[in-house]
Amino acid sequence: MASGTGSLLSSLIGRADDGAPFRIVAVAVDRPCRAADIARDHDIPTVLCRVVDHPDRAAWDAALTGQVEAFEPQWVITAGFMKILGPVFLSRFGGRIVNSHPALLPSFPGAHGVADALAHGVKVTGTTVHLVDEGVDTGPILAQEPVAIHRDDTEDTLHERIKSVERQLLADVVTALVTKGVVIDGRKADIP
Ligand code: GRF
Repeated sequence: MASGTGSLLSSLIGRADDGAPFRIVAVAVDRPCRAADIARDHDIPTVLCRVVDHPDRAAWDAALTGQVEAFEPQWVITAGFMKILGPVFLSRFGGRIVNSHPALLPSFPGAHGVADALAHGVKVTGTTVHLVDEGVDTGPILAQEPVAIHRDDTEDTLHERIKSVERQLLADVVTALVTKGVVIDGRKADIP
């Protein structure tokens, strides 16, 4: 699931094409975006589910859940999907939704993790892959990688450097999930 330029999606597609043990069955977006174009260019079924096309957020949540469910995904990956998932979606896919965040959680959650890290003056930030729960970027952490902040970084330069690490980490985690399941602190986690 994506909302933006789709570079994380491209990385996952590249890994799948290179023989990784997963297949992307569909891409869902909440707005017209480059990520949807990338999916179409690779002949991956694409779903556009916009909040504004529904009477309210609950109706959007139900519609999105139904559209994603139709593809029977084993895992749902939010790779730059910029909407908070609703309760219906979470109860349908809970424990099997993986998010990639451009900061070292629990620091700097939310939509502005890169800008917030920069504004706070931390010297190291990074990327986190975690399971999604009902909070914002609060679910169990699966993997993290640090990224140093340079003195002359802008939000854009820093975000690009984080994303180059993020792309590798997310694809590595998805590969591990489909082969080994969820392992947190050396213990296999329960997947509903
Ligand atoms: C990533 O940094 C992701 O963590 C954030 O949005 C960015 C998506 O990048 N939420 P892209 O659209 O895959 O290039």
